Order: sequence, then C-alpha cells, then structure tokens
Amino acid sequence: MHSSSETASSPLEGEARLSVPQPEAADAKPAAQAQPQAKILIVDDEPKSLFALQELLASLGQTLLVAQSGEDALKLALKHDFAVILLDVRMPGMDGFETAKMIRGRERSQATPIIFLTAQADEMTSMFKGYAVGAVDYLMKPVVPDVLKSKVAVFVELHRKNERLRESEDQLRRLAAHLISVREEERAHIAREIHDELGQVLTGIKMEVGWLQKRLNEPALLEKTESMSKLIDSTVQTVRKIATGLRPEMLDDMGLVAAVGWQAKEFQKRTGIRTRAKLPPERKFDFEISTAVFRIFQEILTNVARHSRATRIDIQLDATEERLELEVVDNGIGIPEGELRGRKSLGLLGMQERALLFGGEVSVSGVPGQGTRVAVSIPIPRPGN
Ligand SMILES: Nc1ncnc2c1ncn2[C@@H]1O[C@H](COP(=O)(O)OP(=O)(O)OP(=O)(O)O)[C@@H](O)[C@H]1O
Ligand SMILES: [Mg+2]
Repeated sequence: MHSSSETASSPLEGEARLSVPQPEAADAKPAAQAQPQAKILIVDDEPKSLFALQELLASLGQTLLVAQSGEDALKLALKHDFAVILLDVRMPGMDGFETAKMIRGRERSQATPIIFLTAQADEMTSMFKGYAVGAVDYLMKPVVPDVLKSKVAVFVELHRKNERLRESEDQLRRLAAHLISVREEERAHIAREIHDELGQVLTGIKMEVGWLQKRLNEPALLEKTESMSKLIDSTVQTVRKIATGLRPEMLDDMGLVAAVGWQAKEFQKRTGIRTRAKLPPERKFDFEISTAVFRIFQEILTNVARHSRATRIDIQLDATEERLELEVVDNGIGIPEGELRGRKSLGLLGMQERALLFGGEVSVSGVPGQGTRVAVSIPIPRPGN
C-alpha cells in the first residue's frame, strides 16, 4: 500500500520524467527525430508494475510520465496534455474509476483517452457505459506487451494527427485574419485615392468648363458646356458613392455609432424595409474593432436584403466598459437551421472569424416564419492591455 507521501522518495514518483530514447534512435535520421514526442501517463500504485510498464513502452520513443496515486495523476493531468493515460483500476485511496471521472471532469483532459489496467474483466462492463466510445479501453493484467504497445501507439498517432490538425487550423485562422486586414487596408487606400485624386481632377475639369462657359456666346456650344457640367456633377457623385462603398469616411471621421446609424438609414432608403436603430452615445472604439463590427453589420444587412423577405428590422447597439454588443432582428422567413452550419455559408463564417479575432462571438438564430436574430458580442480591451 502506498500513499503519495510514503512514496515521495521513490524514483518513480510524481513528476519523475523519464524520457526514454528509442533503441534505434541512435542511428535514425535527424528528420525522423524532429517529430515532437507525445506524453504518456502511467498510473499504478505498485512500483514494480510501474517500472515494468515503463520498460515496455520505452521503445515507443515518447515521453513517459508516471504517478503512483490517483491524486498525483490528477495533478499531472492538469499540467500536461497526454496522448493517453494508462490507469490501474485497483489503487488505494482514489481508485482508477474515480480518477478517470475526475480527469474527465476537467476541461483540459476531458477528451484524453484512458486505458484501464485491470485484473478482473467483469468490473469493466458496467463502467464502460459512462464513456464515449473510442475514448476508453481496457487491458487485462498481466498485460500482453505487444497488445499494450500497439494500443498505446494507436493513441499516440491519433494525438499527433489531432495536434497537426490544430496547428493547421491555427494557421488558417491567422491567414484569414491577415487577409481580412490586408483587404481592409487596401479598401481604405483605394477609397482615399479615388476620393482625393479623382475628386480633385473632376473639380479641376468643372472649373475649366465654367471658364469656357463664360466665354462662349453660341447657344449650341453653351448647351454642350452645360451638359458637360452636369455629367461632371454626376461623376463626382458616383466617385463619392464608390469611395464610401469601399470604406465609409464616416467610420473614420465620426465613429462607429454614427456609421451604424448612417448605414441603417441608407439601408431603409435602398430597400424600403422599415429600419429602427437604438444607438448609444458616440464613443471612441479601437479602429480595428469598429471596422470589424461595421463590416459584420453590413454583412447582416446584406443578408436581410437578400434572403429574409423582412418588412422590418430592429437594430440595437450597446456598449459597456467591457463589451460591444450589436443585435439585428428581422421579421422575415427565419434562417433555416441547416444554413447555420452549411458549407456554403461563407458570409456567416466570415462574420464569426472577424468576431473571433477579438475574442468575440456571433450567434445567429432563426424561427421559421418569424424572423432571424443575429447577435454580435465583442470584448473591449482595457486601456493598457
Ligand atoms: N436574415 C436572414 N433571413 C433568412 N435567411 C438568412 C438570413 N441570413 C442568412 N440566411 C440564410 O443563410 C444562408 C447563409 O448566409 P451567408 O451570408 O453565409 O451566405 P450567402 O448570403 O448566401 O452568401 P455570401 O457568402 O455571399 O454571404 C443564406 O444563403 C440564407 O439562406
Ligand atoms: Mg451573406
């Protein structure tokens, strides 16, 4: 019988970390060694079994950590992400099942695969019910070395694949963030160029035409200059519209609240859908956050116009010290459940990604025939953070 304090002097106790080199690792190529080792936790109160298991698994070339009690195992599971945990069922104090339950109860280790080691197969049957298939397994003691090794190897491989998946997910997310910000910069740049450069040229031409107008007496020519002047005016309007479409000046000059209010009015004018907006007093928000919320808002409105068949929408923007919240409710057909996770729903995905960049979220829900609600919530960074 051991408790963790009694075994404190044991070389195998607690964090004793045994990184065992693979026998063939000596002459293996560096590329093969570059793969990060997975961590395996072995939990057994018997030093002898613990040692035997370590010996057995050493050839897998992974990092082995050991614990001699459920309590120690729990501590380790809090600190490390294990590819698999080998758990002795019979242990004094907290037994294997209790330990597994606690391990699974924690967020970090809730999906960690567990292989129970037991001397009695019948004690396994009932406990299996509580677990998701594939995440637990058991082996009879004394274990058959090759069976143990191959089972553990499968979990190690699975763990590796998961890690790689997570990495590539992370990379994709960063790439998406980069693309979003590059696109935004480019839009702002083009908007400025169009507005300033083209705007100036048009003003110049307009003055030249005015100059001509004053010096012409022939009615036909005067008529021409008059129509040229009108054309120039409408071109100026078009240029403004294009520049504003790319990036509304209002967002930079007046701020997010004004820009949302303006966009809501424009939306009503353009679509005829009755639009009500409840807005807070203007406040200075981070440039990036304002842009993100504004773009999300535009995407929501585009969706309402394109898909909802709504006759009315209610917009509410709220800002506390901690969060910026935007809610848009329409009274249309309601977004179908299947669309929420649809592979084609890139607009919705784009909104989620934009919000996620700031640790925020977008929730979309619809009731058939009654409408759709989109809620955006983004934490506001504290000054100095
Ligand atoms: N307000 C809404 N009311 C009803 N259905 C909606 C609403 N908003 C979105 N949907 C549904 O959800 C789908 C996904 O929306 P999403 O914005 O992702 O894609 P999209 O608008 O079809 O294309 P895009 O990628 O150009 O935005 C839409 O095709 C539509 O069927
Ligand atoms: Mg869309």
